[in-house]
Amino acid sequence: MFTLLLILHLIAVCCWLGGALYERFFTVGGVLKAKGTELEATMLKLMLSTVPFFLTSVFTILVTGIIMTIMHHYTFLSWSWIGLKQYIMLIVLLGFFFYIGPRMNKIGKQLNSNLAEGKGVNDEIRSQFNHIIILFDIMHIGVLINLILALTKFF
Ligand code: HEM
Repeated sequence: MFTLLLILHLIAVCCWLGGALYERFFTVGGVLKAKGTELEATMLKLMLSTVPFFLTSVFTILVTGIIMTIMHHYTFLSWSWIGLKQYIMLIVLLGFFFYIGPRMNKIGKQLNSNLAEGKGVNDEIRSQFNHIIILFDIMHIGVLINLILALTKFF
């Protein structure tokens, strides 16, 4: 049972990090390259549509992580490699649900209303998008730290 959970945990980690790398370099890169063209709105929509994929990975990591923590009799939110992993995950989740997610929704709604009026991506959407990209980068550094903590278990 533990091995199965660990496999699921690791597949979800690969999906998150692999997806994040692809998104950062190809999708976000595509949005930036397409600036001012008709393709910009399509690329932006593509980027916004990846949220369910990432949330599935996050949910899988969280659920398998919690069950494995209980099974191995590790503690929750202690000062150790596992505790720090949990704190980072908590910050990522809170950051996503209370800050990044609502802003992504806002960008999506604004983009849809612009498209309905026959307009494309404007500077306001671009600046919100750039802000979110920085937050995503910070979040993914957290995921990388979690990966290092899990593999080294150094404290
Ligand atoms: C982005 C977040 C995370 C990443 C990148 C990550 C990564 C990993 C990796 C690579 C392993 C395998 C380590 C090994 O077998 O040597 C692992 C195992 C594990 N993870 Fe995570 N993890 C994350 C989040 C979490 C969370 C939130 C929890 C708990 C709530 C958790 C609990 C565990 C447990 C209990 C193990 C098994 C450790 C053992 O074999 O003793 N993980 N994780």
